[in-house]
Amino acid sequence: MLLNDKVFMAWPSRIIFGAGQRAALAPLLKKQGYRNALIVTDTFFTSAASPIIRNLIEALDAVEIRHFVFDGGHPDPTVLLCENAYKLVREKAADIAFDHIIAVGGGSNIDLAKVLSVTLKYGGHPEDYIGEGRLPGKPMTLVAMPTTSGAGSEVTPGAILVAQASSTKVALMGNDLRPSIVVVDPELTLSCPPKVTADAGIDALTHAIESYLTCDSTDFDRGGDPDPGYSGRNHITQLMAGESIRLCFEHLPTAYGNGADLEARTGMAYASLLAAFSYASAGLNAVHALAYALAGLTHASHGSTNAVFLPYVMDSLRTVRRADMAKIGHMAGAGTEMREEQAARHAIVHTRELVESVGIPITLKGFGVTEHDLDTLVSHGLGVSRLTKAFPIQPAESTYRAVVRSAFDGVISS
Ligand SMILES: NC(=O)c1ccc[n+]([C@@H]2O[C@H](COP(=O)([O-])OP(=O)(O)OC[C@H]3O[C@@H](n4cnc5c(N)ncnc54)[C@H](O)[C@@H]3O)[C@@H](O)[C@H]2O)c1
Repeated sequence: MLLNDKVFMAWPSRIIFGAGQRAALAPLLKKQGYRNALIVTDTFFTSAASPIIRNLIEALDAVEIRHFVFDGGHPDPTVLLCENAYKLVREKAADIAFDHIIAVGGGSNIDLAKVLSVTLKYGGHPEDYIGEGRLPGKPMTLVAMPTTSGAGSEVTPGAILVAQASSTKVALMGNDLRPSIVVVDPELTLSCPPKVTADAGIDALTHAIESYLTCDSTDFDRGGDPDPGYSGRNHITQLMAGESIRLCFEHLPTAYGNGADLEARTGMAYASLLAAFSYASAGLNAVHALAYALAGLTHASHGSTNAVFLPYVMDSLRTVRRADMAKIGHMAGAGTEMREEQAARHAIVHTRELVESVGIPITLKGFGVTEHDLDTLVSHGLGVSRLTKAFPIQPAESTYRAVVRSAFDGVISS
């Protein structure tokens, strides 16, 4: 417990969790008086390969909720995709007065639905709302049904989009963007192929570790905002992050190797949700800042760009976060006889081994990065100031430089 904690948390108002629990959604919506649903998803879920949307539609029909399905979602949604989705829904479903949106899919579809929850209610363009605190009012009610275990967008105040002009990631941010109802049904993740499982699973581990180690709530700069999205780590976020880290280490290898294992899928669904509860209050820092820079350069997936930096950022924090790092080491199986320093190193080495075991490169060279790109990665990472300001070592530049170098060479200090 940290004596001077300053806790500020904003969470969804209904959380439903459990295998098969998606069946509880339609009756809840009926009870709450909703009548017209926009379902936002992608073509995997409307294809013959998946019964998820078919079953959802049957459930909505049974409680007489009218619905329209938009299945144009795409990984890493762009600003343009959101704009086009808005126009298409307006045109094709002009006669429906939507009163809620149900997002079905991974973080990408949930982020697209978040943007639609604003534009369909207030008009305008997605660009109008990019940045912190730029929402014109409360968005349309949003229900999130994640089908991956990782992104955690179902809990966060952000919608992450790719700005196609620069290929960089931008965000709409505000606590009212957090979905009101969250349905985490681990059965929905059973069809995730190994690459999606790996990317999302390491994303969950990154959220947990990064928020476990981030700056304290006492030191977090809220910029005078009385309704901050992120506000630094506190006792509650650490409890959740710690359990999430333990669950990731225990269940990700099996979820990746045997996707049909419902126990591993449930473990990862809990890990993802707990990590999201932690980071969606505590916030993130260097791993995500550098990952955004790498994604801008290579267009590699979100989870993989986090994964390659995670061990090296942990290494850079080994001195200032030694006791916490050692606790992570024990969660990763370090014996109780290990001294704090050894357990801390075990945390870093074990994390990198896990990344490698799920098929993600453990050096920047594995992403095609050259020496020539390293300065750009550092400067673009530093440029994500909302994340960089929460890094426990300030000023961050020389540490970012060392992290990028180590990630390029694949070196963990002894
Ligand atoms: N808003 C936030 O706070 C936040 C946080 C973290 C990440 N993100 C964003 O989330 C995105 C990554 O999300 P993700 O890792 O969940 O992946 P994703 O949503 O990008 O989906 C990746 C692919 O997996 C497929 N897929 C998803 N669930 C499936 C299932 N059950 N079975 C078969 N295929 C399935 C999708 O159809 C898609 O093709 C990135 O765009 C990232 O920027 C947002």
